[in-house]
Amino acid sequence: MLERYLSGVRKNIQPGDKGGNDMQLIIEKNYQEMSKKAAELVASQITFDPASVLGLATGSTPLGMYNELVKIFNKGEIDFSEVITFNLDEYYKISPDNKNSYHYYMMNNFFNKINIKGANINLLDGMTDKPQQECKNYDREIKRAGGIDLQILGIGPNGHIGFNEPGDKLCVETHLVDLTEETIKANSRFFANCKKVPKRAITVGMATILKAEKILLLASGKKKARAVKKAVNGYVDTKIPASFLQTHPHLTMVIDEEAALLLD
Ligand code: F6R
Repeated sequence: MLERYLSGVRKNIQPGDKGGNDMQLIIEKNYQEMSKKAAELVASQITFDPASVLGLATGSTPLGMYNELVKIFNKGEIDFSEVITFNLDEYYKISPDNKNSYHYYMMNNFFNKINIKGANINLLDGMTDKPQQECKNYDREIKRAGGIDLQILGIGPNGHIGFNEPGDKLCVETHLVDLTEETIKANSRFFANCKKVPKRAITVGMATILKAEKILLLASGKKKARAVKKAVNGYVDTKIPASFLQTHPHLTMVIDEEAALLLD
């Protein structure tokens, strides 16, 4: 299935590019500017279609964007009442009230601060005893909502998107995944130590991401520069899952100067 995304691959996106595939690379001065720009783009999507289906990421990177969106909401300039969301991933196993769960992150950093309807929020159940069933249900719900209109992504230092980790092959659908040592180490900053980081996660697959109508990828800081370079200037390669984004017809990357350091 992934092969069909490879037709029309366009490599080597340059700053300011807005080529035939409508890919856009926007480089902002710092994290704050990146967050503001990202929030503007998400707000425009919701103004354009108030019933947008958003794919959402967690982690450090989109935190500033969520804060900016809450500010725009508080000014009365944006209405989330018809918006539907699907989060990308969740640790397995982790309970929703654990402060390190993505469930807790989304409720406390975003959903509890805006007027989204509870019924329109879709989060993966990190405690399920039937992960396969949970994955199937999630894919079915995404389809039922008509797919993702705008997918927001961060990028792992190893090039992962969602928790689609580098490997010899990538999974198309939502699945249970073993996290790589690099990801466990990178994410241990939120936990007491590496041992406390769950070793597995449930993540939407590459097809769900690549089938989104539009994708907005955010990256900030020097530690993301290598992954950004490989994703943007390198070959499409399962060992850098983000490189598959080069095949997407409506990709916007909003990154800061440090994350852009290694770009051609
Ligand atoms: C989180 C997710 C991950 C993160 C990535 C970067 O929902 O899907 O792919 O976007 O691990 O994380 P941060 O932003 O913490 O560097």
